[in-house]
Amino acid sequence: MKKAIIIGASSGIGKGIALELLKKNYKVAISARRIERLEEIKSINPNNVIIKEFDSSTEQNDKLLSYLVNKLGGLDLLIYSSGIGILNKKLDYQIEKKVNNLNVSGFTQVVDWGFNYFINQNYGHIVNISSIASEIGNGIAPSYNASKAYQANYLQGLRFKTIRKKIPIYLTDVRPGFVDTEILQGNKDDLFWVSTVEKACSQIMKGIESKKNILYITKRWKLISLLIKILPEKILSRFF
Ligand SMILES: NC(=O)c1ccc[n+]([C@@H]2O[C@H](COP(=O)([O-])OP(=O)(O)OC[C@H]3O[C@@H](n4cnc5c(N)ncnc54)[C@H](OP(=O)(O)O)[C@@H]3O)[C@@H](O)[C@H]2O)c1
Repeated sequence: MKKAIIIGASSGIGKGIALELLKKNYKVAISARRIERLEEIKSINPNNVIIKEFDSSTEQNDKLLSYLVNKLGGLDLLIYSSGIGILNKKLDYQIEKKVNNLNVSGFTQVVDWGFNYFINQNYGHIVNISSIASEIGNGIAPSYNASKAYQANYLQGLRFKTIRKKIPIYLTDVRPGFVDTEILQGNKDDLFWVSTVEKACSQIMKGIESKKNILYITKRWKLISLLIKILPEKILSRFF
């Protein structure tokens, strides 16, 4: 039985991937702060779900991961789906710091721990949910887009390492556009191409299985990625 950890699985994409993995007969260990949400997921398949209440913005993720991997009895797949984005028109540093603590520091600690774990066992797969936002700046939530750019770049760096050293560790960078989750804060109707969680997670699962480097979710967001690369900043600044 394959074993996976998902950090940030109490709702949205993390939860959706957990449900997909259970369908594929994985044993999963999931964490987040809202324990009651994790308990709901465990109640679906108590034997194959391990839960742990945890705030990943603390610098204690190594303890969390050691705990979860011991409970699982091994690890094949590590997924980081924790993330926040906060509008910050006034550039309040405390807001930027909060975002960075989770999206940058928490992310780095989890991915580094996983990479070193997989180096020791000589195989493994790390998946991060970054965003199409990783490809462009954002005037009203600068730390969100910048933190996603950090994640995308960091994963590419680790990919270069595995290619150079011929290590069988896979690193998948998932770049969703809009997915109908709590992070949209009820603004779904003002947005376009909003995917259901189910559709997004089914595409993510296929991408994980084929060990893709970069995944656009849904696939049509690749078009937005191309536009971001060719349009001048004067035009882009109207939207971001
Ligand atoms: N939905 C979209 O349109 C979209 C688009 C692009 C990228 N993404 C990315 O997808 C990832 C998942 O977001 P989502 O859309 O599924 O939204 P979501 O439903 O809000 O999920 C966010 C997850 O992060 C967890 N989390 C937040 N703060 C945390 C903390 N301090 N410690 C541990 N876990 C924490 C939440 O759990 P608790 O609150 O229970 O701790 C929740 O499980 C995020 O990185 C987001 O940036 C989403």
